[in-house]
Amino acid sequence: MRLVLLGAPGAGKGTQAKKLIEKYGIPQISTGDILRQAVKDGTPLGKEAKVIMDKGELVTDSIVLGLVEERLKQDDCKKGYILDGFPRNTAQAEALDKMLDSLNMPLTAALSVDVPKEDLMKRLTGRRTCKSCGQMYNIYFSAPKTEGKCDKCGADLFQRDDDKEETINKRLDVYDAQTAPLIDYYSKKGILKSVQGVGNIDEIFNKVVSTLGG
Ligand code: AP5
Ligand code: MG
Repeated sequence: MRLVLLGAPGAGKGTQAKKLIEKYGIPQISTGDILRQAVKDGTPLGKEAKVIMDKGELVTDSIVLGLVEERLKQDDCKKGYILDGFPRNTAQAEALDKMLDSLNMPLTAALSVDVPKEDLMKRLTGRRTCKSCGQMYNIYFSAPKTEGKCDKCGADLFQRDDDKEETINKRLDVYDAQTAPLIDYYSKKGILKSVQGVGNIDEIFNKVVSTLGG
């Protein structure tokens, strides 16, 4: 399976990707996660990216394209991959198609996870993530048993810097203007699939799996 996950901020791309990794044993490539790791490591790229991410805008295409190409060339992607949060605009989608053709690993599907806008703000302001294992929680929908601590490994939870209401609004606007047109892009290529991303996480996952063909 060679998949692009499409969806607004908070649609549950990361949540569903983690379950797809478990089921299919293929890696998730989240450009957001890669950029946040670079910020944490304090690399020059991380410093440049942080300013843009904190504003809710998109990091330069050339930066993310380089990161994705490097990652796709690693051995574990030979059996498939899940691109999460990439591509983000038409230029990235076109560059990705070229890159995948030259690597001989074209996409098999683009899956859009559709969630009404009114649900997204609460999902994002309520999101908490484990510093150590990356497990995701939500203080409104799936709170950890002990406040601020991971159920799985006991480490501290953190809130993303861009999960502030003002930045979320900007991210949602950027999604509408730049990323939503990719639904049409992949539909025209005949590889678009979509699921409603509302309700129980496991039920959504079951729909994802059946939509992708089991
Ligand atoms: P990125 O990290 O990709 O963020 P995003 O697209 O805004 O998406 P999120 O990660 O916020 O949402 P998600 O869909 O993964 O939802 P999640 O599963 O966490 O990008 C961040 C920034 O990096 C960008 O703004 C940009 O600056 C930069 N960037 C990244 N990629 C780039 C690119 N290609 N080009 C340029 N710049 C780039 O779920 C959210 C919450 O909801 C969680 O708390 C979860 O527990 C909860 N939840 C999930 N499912 C459900 C459910 N069914 N019911 C109730 N709650 C649920
Ligand atoms: Mg995510």
